[in-house]
Amino acid sequence: MSTSSVASSKPQLWVSRPLPQEPIAPLHQYFDVCSESVERRLSPAELADRLAGCDAAIVGLTEHIGADEIAEAPRLRFIANVATGYDNLDLAALSAKRVGASNTPGVLSESVAEFAWALMLAASRRVCAADRWVRGGHWKQAFGFSDWLGYDLSCRTLGILGLGRIGQAVARRAAAFRMPVIYHNRSRADPALESDCGARYVDMDALLQASDVLLVAIPATPTTHHLLGAQELALMKSTAVLVNVARGGIIDEGALADALKHERMAAAALDVFEGEPAIHPALLELENVILTPHIASATPRTRRAMVAVAVDNVMAFFGLGAHAGRPPNLLNPDVLQND
Ligand code: GLV
Repeated sequence: MSTSSVASSKPQLWVSRPLPQEPIAPLHQYFDVCSESVERRLSPAELADRLAGCDAAIVGLTEHIGADEIAEAPRLRFIANVATGYDNLDLAALSAKRVGASNTPGVLSESVAEFAWALMLAASRRVCAADRWVRGGHWKQAFGFSDWLGYDLSCRTLGILGLGRIGQAVARRAAAFRMPVIYHNRSRADPALESDCGARYVDMDALLQASDVLLVAIPATPTTHHLLGAQELALMKSTAVLVNVARGGIIDEGALADALKHERMAAAALDVFEGEPAIHPALLELENVILTPHIASATPRTRRAMVAVAVDNVMAFFGLGAHAGRPPNLLNPDVLQND
């Protein structure tokens, strides 16, 4: 690790960004904790350098870690990702080196669901464009009775692509808007869950065709990459609103920009982007898309809870704490098997 630390018999733990201190505190008794003091994106070489001297790391979704980054990290045993998605980690490469990894599912579902609703409402009612218009000094006199029209959510169909924890939390709130919910998943949820969420399973084409508001809440995997491309977007209603709180690469951003520009879709709201923090230039030109910087889980309570989950997983992997020996969110349990 380039950040200096006094030689110690405790395992070395590197934290890739400044994180809330309170949930990190329990680690200090057992680990030499070394945290980056500023928030910034580290290069692959810097990552490799940081990981080289440590036994464990707590990282976030901007740290892409694969074979190259851990090649010179002989002591590394565990990486805790402070995120639910873990497309930034190459699990096969980690397992090959017997490095365990964990994520933070569950604790952020309600915050992300609330943010998804914020985006669905804001995109449907043109909140951000209207705000820009007012700030731009354009509201000089009464405007037309038929200007600034948006879409109601009430009684329109909510489609959810991915009825995981976040999709479920969104679906459970739909009754308040009297929105019928349909969903599509790789595999159908069990009837008890469907009934709890008030969600009806449909195939992918039906989801695209029938949704008035379509929420994307599936993980990024090689099979979901550009799952929503020009052909799929063409199946959607011209009045539909598309919201993505999952990962950018699931939607072909060029195709989406084209659909929005030519009003083959009413509006979109994106919290995630394929090349974050870069945004497809065509999206930046459009008034009918809301762009937010991957903040769906950003509340103090949820961010603290995510760190606490990561800490619990690190401790557990090293045989410490409430889940000693059984990290609750281990993504590659094969690393615990004896050869
Ligand atoms: C955020 O995007 C997460 O995966 O937690």
